[in-house]
Amino acid sequence: MRSNRSTFSSIDRSRHQEGDLPVATVTGLALDVIFPMLHGPYGEDGTMQGLLELANIPYVGCGVLASAVGMDKGMMKVAFAARGLPVCPYRVVLRHDWAREPDRIADELEKALQFPMFVKPANLGSSVGISKAKDAAGLREAMVLAGSFDRKIVIEAAVPNAREIECAVLGNDEPDASVPGEIIPSREFYDYEAKYLDEGSKALIPADLPKKIADQVRKLSIEAFKAIDGAGMSRVDFLLERGTSKLYVNEVNTIPGFTTISMFAKLWSASGVEYPVLLDRLIALALQRHADKQSLRTSIT
Ligand SMILES: Nc1ncnc2c1ncn2[C@@H]1O[C@H](COP(=O)(O)OP(=O)(O)O)[C@@H](O)[C@H]1O
Ligand SMILES: [Mg+2]
Repeated sequence: MRSNRSTFSSIDRSRHQEGDLPVATVTGLALDVIFPMLHGPYGEDGTMQGLLELANIPYVGCGVLASAVGMDKGMMKVAFAARGLPVCPYRVVLRHDWAREPDRIADELEKALQFPMFVKPANLGSSVGISKAKDAAGLREAMVLAGSFDRKIVIEAAVPNAREIECAVLGNDEPDASVPGEIIPSREFYDYEAKYLDEGSKALIPADLPKKIADQVRKLSIEAFKAIDGAGMSRVDFLLERGTSKLYVNEVNTIPGFTTISMFAKLWSASGVEYPVLLDRLIALALQRHADKQSLRTSIT
């Protein structure tokens, strides 16, 4: 199936360096749908999605707004809290302000959140630049590290003895949630080493949870997806406090890992949606969302 509907050649390339953007690579091709398998800034944060909107090409997954909100840990928490979802206590600090008043800010953070705290660059992922600060000296180091990756830093109270629960969401305006899974990190928390370098982290699918909590995870996953105005797919990650069973929505990943062994695909497989069917569903959802948008009026006459 090919269409002449849209080509990248309609984009003004003179503004870009050759090789800067994938525009040059695909120029002239008529594309039916794009499946962005990209992570982090310029892939998952709405910029690529904006390019595809301009080119009027259907694409899999979240649109510009949901991608940008899902990338920004500060704005994501605002969206979750506005929908009444449980988020852990947090603060957002600009690197600019930290550089001017570190003592005052450190004091405020300690009063508001107490140690240990998680300190994160607002827009990144893969645990890059994230530290667990256990004391005042650790907090200073963590703020400098996070501030080297982003102008905006998110500081959170650590959820004690957190279990890491993940749930996959699929759909557009009527999304479904998969069975929940659990990650057992090989290290103190699910940092970069535990995610990509150590072999020791494990995934349990489905997570060993009482039905009541599993149902709550699925319900909150759909709510979190709706809170960012998601489309197509997302993986919603939770922190579950051992002992109290208090559940916090940690984040939405709008382009989750997508190999056959990634959590997203495995969660759907455990929920009865095998990988080939999952891919077909995602492509169909992309085409449906695009068609839906094409049907909108763009003028009042
Ligand atoms: N508030 C918190 N309490 C306990 N653990 C946390 C908290 N925030 C983050 N973590 C740990 O750090 C990891 C990475 O943080 P996360 O916010 O998921 O960033 P990323 O987008 O890089 O995955 C989490 O998987 C978890 O292990
Ligand atoms: Mg994460």
